[in-house]
Order: sequence, then structure tokens, then C-alpha cells
Amino acid sequence: MTGDELRQEFLRFFESKGHKVLPSASLIPNDPQLLFTVAGMVPFKPIFWGKVEPVYTRIATCQKCLRTNDIDNVGRTPRHQTFFEMLGNFSFGDYFKKEAITWAWEFVTKILKLPEEKLWVTIYKDDEEAFKIWRDLVGIPEKKIVRMGKDTNFWGPAGPTGPCGPCSEIHYDTGVMDDCPKNEECTPANSDKRFLEIWNLVFTEFNQDENGNLNPLPKKNIDTGAGLERIASVIQKVGGNFETDLFMPIINRIGEVLNVKYKESNSKDISIRVIADHSRAVSFLIADGVFPSNEERGYVLRRILRRAVRHGVLLGAKKPFLHFINDAVIEKMGKTYPELVERRKLILEVTQTEEERFFKTIVQGNEMLNDIIAKSHKIISGEDVFKLYDTYGFPPDIVVDVARERGLEVDLNEFERLMELQREKARSARIEVEFAKSSEDYNRLAKTIKTAFVGYETLNCEATVIYTKKQDSRLEVVFDKTCFYAERGGQVADTGKISWDNGSAIVEHVYVPIEGIIAHVVRLEYGELHQGMRVRLQVDKEKRDATARNHTATHLLHAALRKALGNHVKQSGSLVAPDRLRFDFTHYQALTKDEIEQIENLVNSTIFEALPVVTQEKSYKEAVAEGAIALFGEKYGDVVRVVKISNFSEELCGGTHVKNTGNIGLFKIISESAISAGTRRIEATTGFNALNYLRTKEQLIENICEKLGTSQDEVSLRIENLLEKNHIMQRELEQLRSKSLTLQLKQAPVKQIKDIKFLYHIFDDVESNELRNLSDIAISGENSLVALLFSVSRDKVNLIVRVTQDLTKKIKAGDIAKYAAQILEGGGGGRPDFAQAGGKNPTKINEVIEYTKRLLEQK
Ligand code: SER
Repeated sequence: MTGDELRQEFLRFFESKGHKVLPSASLIPNDPQLLFTVAGMVPFKPIFWGKVEPVYTRIATCQKCLRTNDIDNVGRTPRHQTFFEMLGNFSFGDYFKKEAITWAWEFVTKILKLPEEKLWVTIYKDDEEAFKIWRDLVGIPEKKIVRMGKDTNFWGPAGPTGPCGPCSEIHYDTGVMDDCPKNEECTPANSDKRFLEIWNLVFTEFNQDENGNLNPLPKKNIDTGAGLERIASVIQKVGGNFETDLFMPIINRIGEVLNVKYKESNSKDISIRVIADHSRAVSFLIADGVFPSNEERGYVLRRILRRAVRHGVLLGAKKPFLHFINDAVIEKMGKTYPELVERRKLILEVTQTEEERFFKTIVQGNEMLNDIIAKSHKIISGEDVFKLYDTYGFPPDIVVDVARERGLEVDLNEFERLMELQREKARSARIEVEFAKSSEDYNRLAKTIKTAFVGYETLNCEATVIYTKKQDSRLEVVFDKTCFYAERGGQVADTGKISWDNGSAIVEHVYVPIEGIIAHVVRLEYGELHQGMRVRLQVDKEKRDATARNHTATHLLHAALRKALGNHVKQSGSLVAPDRLRFDFTHYQALTKDEIEQIENLVNSTIFEALPVVTQEKSYKEAVAEGAIALFGEKYGDVVRVVKISNFSEELCGGTHVKNTGNIGLFKIISESAISAGTRRIEATTGFNALNYLRTKEQLIENICEKLGTSQDEVSLRIENLLEKNHIMQRELEQLRSKSLTLQLKQAPVKQIKDIKFLYHIFDDVESNELRNLSDIAISGENSLVALLFSVSRDKVNLIVRVTQDLTKKIKAGDIAKYAAQILEGGGGGRPDFAQAGGKNPTKINEVIEYTKRLLEQK
């Protein structure tokens, strides 16, 4: 059975048991607790948790997964991988242990036909229910049901908190007895080599909270996971995952590209396996919207990619190669995962660019490293390793590799010490910068007061001035409370007015100089503003309303993008202003016209449905469990504000919003563009601004119609006709021009010099290929003819010299052109019958003609 067939058989089997088969979710989970999808259950976490109602209570998937915790072992063992595929069947409050166990057994023995005597099982130590099912229903001998503890037979949660439960595993007896104990029976409890875990059945019935307490979940669930590559290696009877047909085409490609053979040398095999594994991880990560960077997911990708390149270098690679291997990954896996094929170009380009960059680092670092090695005795100092790392980003593990080859040691302790020192420096530098940002005053102020923000509920309020500071021609003012929204989370600040008994001021900007304090930048109109005064604050309502429309529309757009394009879409920046909104997000390619229309339709339907926009304060955990979108890496307090629009959108957000989506009126996308590889930008507008945008377009069309003297219905036809007419006229003009030039040529004087005919003519601004055509006409049917055709445009002159074949023995066009070029102050030359010259002195044309005449007279 091939790996692809195994995947299909698994899904088909569980489909026959009433499961809905779903495609794999993205490697990037919609889950702020996790960087990557680490198991098949991750996409269903909210359902297990009981926070979301399932649409199907039985699901089966083959899920792409990524785990990097054991990355250092990848390559060194037959089984460690970063990227892998996990087969799984799930029950959400539907079936439980009995079905999960008996079906798993049926699949391995009946479909995969693994011999029963080779199979063992493990259970959680006091799980009597599972024990009885295995013994009594399945018929496994008691001694082959091994009880084990929490470290192996309790799974989850994925992330710091969440669903988890005891589990039961099926193990395959490989017959390898290397690590079996001498005096007791060899079982899955004491041998890793002999027994290979092939399937994990988790009985997900608990929620683990942040204190590690296990609380029963509302329903009992099933989450099973079987590594596709591992099972394939068992049924294909090969030594490890890398020898299965899932990996071999990739390994073969590595062999071709790097000119190495698998299974010839132990150390080379390690590198080959590393590259085989990492090329899959890299391809899939890029396909799911991750790009190499120095943060979070991008950093993980960069590390994996560089590790692959490093092993390529160990195998002798001198230039980028990994993208060729990725190509094999796409070829092998593209049928099952069409995103690979769709984003092929991107995967290859991103990989190659990153490889090139890393190769440069390696080359520069290598030179320095060679110098260092030359001067080092026995040990390479930590200082040198640090310098290499600090200057070139040259990885210390390469230094170790190279040092080992040359029989040298590396002082890694010293290196670590220097690294720590530098981290320390960077930390204190950061603190200084942050401190400098907010002035002394605000720091002091923040210790005693906190500006209350009442701007969600009202746009007018009375407040007391508690601090003022003159800043150039402006005043910065802090009140005890304010209804002005300070610039934050992409939303621009409110503007408006402050007034008091004998004075007023314009609020131009509002910002947060330090957490807790809201500062207003104001321009005094008249009067004076002092500490302790009571004043009236009034937000510009029109502007605030327009901004609110755009902010709510931004949430709708975010949700619509995820619905239309997929959950890989993540906000990477946004601007919410009164006149427009701008939304940056991760996506690999330009949106098509259809996609843009689909997104506009989704947003506008939600507007037309006039759904209430509800804001609530709740605990961060509760919000995220409900599925609210939180930005990864963003800091949130314990209590967060959630903005929810029916079940269309739910986001953590502190911004100001409309009360009902109907208030937005209309949403229109104005542009869609790329801002960097993998990040797109949409600009859009709402309400009156959208209306005005459409009006401007309408006006434009009206202007065009007016100019063309036609109606909107006819304008396209009219333009087509005009273009067609223009085209015809152009052709006619060319014909006329060519006729006129031929006529000029025909009328040009021909001088008879002895038995040679000499023809010359000066044209006005004729293109060089036209001049060549004319020269063809000039000599056609002629004998004993020499022709000079000039074209003059401003202060440039071109010349074609033609000599009929019968004269070429005596007179060479090339010689004339060369000489002419000198006179005309340019260049020239050519064959005896055809030559060209050009120059920048048209006043000398006569000299060329006279020279040629004399030349012919002498012949
Ligand atoms: N979540 C479990 C695992 O990853 C079973 O799918 O092993």
C-alpha cells in the first residue's frame, strides 16, 4: 500500500463509520496559544473545549502538522520529523472509548492487515474501562495490555490550558531486541526500539486550567492521532519513515541535485534526511503564509531553512539548492495539498532568496573563520565565535562543525557568556529608549492619576484640567477624564473642541504618552487654560462617526477575507481614519477581480442585514475560547474588550464602532496591492465617502461622454469605433508618407559620372528601417549605381550607402561610410554593397557628397 493509498483508506474507513471527512486546516492555527498546528485536534480545540457547537459530531482528517521541539534529533534517527501528516478521527460528545478502540483495531488488522501477534497496547494506569474493552471486546491477552503513567499515557493540552485526557496507544513489535531488559519481559514500558507507537487514542474528557487542575469537560470526546509516515514505514516494511514512498522521491531529488547517494555513508545520510524533512516543512510553511523573518513563525521558518542549507553545504553544495528540492516536495504532495501547486512560484522564490542571503553570510563568515582557524591552537575562542556571529550572523553550530573537522575545540561557554552580555545591553538600551519617549512629567503623573475614558458612551463631557505643558505653539493638556479617543490600534485620534467661560481651544491630536494618561494637543483660540479649570470637551461627531464606520467595516473586512481566502489571512497592520481604511494582511498572491467582488459582497450583505455591534468586557481567556480573533504577539490585559458582530466577526479591540452594521451604509474597496512578499494591502471606504468615491467615478464617465458627444450606453462602442478609425487613419498616413518618400526618391537627380550613376538625396527625419527600404527601392533593377541616402533630424544625421554588385570590386560602400562617419562626426561602416553611417554634424553632408563624387571620378 502506498502512502497516498494509506491516507485515502484511512479517511474512507472512517467515512464508512459515519465521519465527515474534512481537508487539512492550515499549519497556522487560529489559536493565540499556539504558533503552529501541532496535532490533528488543534483546529477543533474550541469544540472539545465546549465553547463552540460542532456542525458534525464525527470528523476524520489527515492534518498537516509541525513540531520543532525535537528538531536537533531530526536526521539522526529514523523517525524524527518536524513536518508530518497526522491521521485522526474525532468524536465530539458522540461515541467514546468502545468505538474508538474497536474501530482502530479493525482498521489496523483488517484494512492494514497487520498481524495481531505483532500488536501490543498501552493504557493509562487506572483506566479500567479501556482495559476491559481491549481484553473482553477486542480479545487482547492481558499481558499485552500494558498500564503506563501520566508522562506517556495522558495527552494534552495543546498549549498552556485546554482539553486533554488519558490515552491508549497501539504499538507495533518490530522484533528489534537491542534495548530489551535482560531479566524481565520486554514490553512497550521498557523498550522504545522494539515497540513502535503507531496510534494514539485520546479520551478527551478534561479541561486543564492554568493551575494544572483537571476539570471535566461538558462532553466526553475522542481525539486519535496516527503518524502517516510512521504507519507507512510499518506496512511498507522499511527501516524508517524516510525510506517510505512518501519521502523517497524527495531523497532521490536530493541525490540528483547534490550528487550524493543515500545509504552510503552514515554522516551523509543524516544530512540527506535533514534536508528531506526540512524541505517539506519549508514548502508547507511558505504555502500557508509564513515568510522568513526574525520573529515568531518567520524565525522558526528561517531556522529550519538555514539548517537545511547548512546540511547541504556539508554535502558539498556551493550555491542555493533547496528550492530544487522543494520542487520535488510540490510534485510529490501537490495532489493532496493543492496549495503547494497554487503557490509554487512563491515557495520557490522565497526559498531561493533566503538561501542566497544565507550563502552570502556563509561565504563571508568562512573567510573570516579560515583566518581564525589559522591563528588558533587547539581551541577557537568564544570571542572569535561571537565576532563571527555578531558581524556576519554566522551560526556558531557551523563553527563547531568545521572546528570538529579540523580537530579543534570551541569555547562555547565563553561564547554564551558574551551573548548574554549583549542581550543584557540590548535590554537596558530598550528600557532607556522607552523611558525617553515619555517625558519625566508624564511618568510622574502616571503614578498618581489615570485619565478616565468616557468616549465610548458620549462625545461631550465636562472635565478638570490637571496638567498643561507648552509645546512650541501648542499646549498639551491632560484632564481627569476625556471623551476624546487617543490614537491607538490603528484608529486615528478624535479631534474637536474645548470651551470654557471665556475661552476655547481646538483639539488637534490625542495620544497616550504613557499607559493610563491621555494627552490632548490643543491650539488656543482665545482665553487661557490652567490647571484646576473646569472645561467642556466636545468631539467632532461627524469625523468620529465616519471613523467608527471604517473601524467596524475593518472588522467585517477581516472576517470576510478569512471566509473568502482562508484562515491563513492575518491582520498585519491597519489604519482607520475618517475618510478611509487600510488593512494589511498575510496572503501570497494578488486578489482576483472575482475575489474582490466576493469580499465586497460579503461585507455589504452584513451591512444590509443591519446586525447589532455588541461590545463586551470579559476575561482574555474567555474571549479567546469563544473564538475571538486576537493578534498574535499583541499584549492584552486580563480584561479585554470584545467587539462582536453576530456570528460573523469577533475581535479583541479597544476602538470605537458603530452600534449597528447598517450605520456603515456602504462599503467599497478602492485598491488592492502588494506591500511586500506575502503581505497585501486593501484600501476601502464607507458611508458618504464610498458614495462620493462612486460619484467621482460617475463624473469621470460623464466627462468622457460629454467630450465624445455620446451617452453612457454608447460610450464603449464609441471608443471602440474611434480606436478603429484611428488605426485605419494611421495606416493610411503611413502609406501616404511612404508614397511621398518614394516620390522624392524617384525625383532625386542622378549624376552620370563616367559610366557610374550617382544618386543622392537628403530626407527629412526618416526612421532608419524606412531609410533602408528606400535604399532597396533606389537600387532595385539598377546596375552601376552608387546611392547615398541621408536623413536629418534636428542635429543628427543618418546615412545609408548602397553600391550595386557590379561595382563592388572597385567601389566599397563600407569605405565611403567610414569616411563619411569621420566627416559627420560619428561612426559607420559595413559591407561593400551596403553600409551605414551616422553623425552629429548635418552641415557637413555636402562634403560627403563632394567626396563621393571625386572618388567616383577617379575610378
Ligand atoms: N492529539 C493526540 C496526539 O497528538 C492524538 O491525536 O498524539
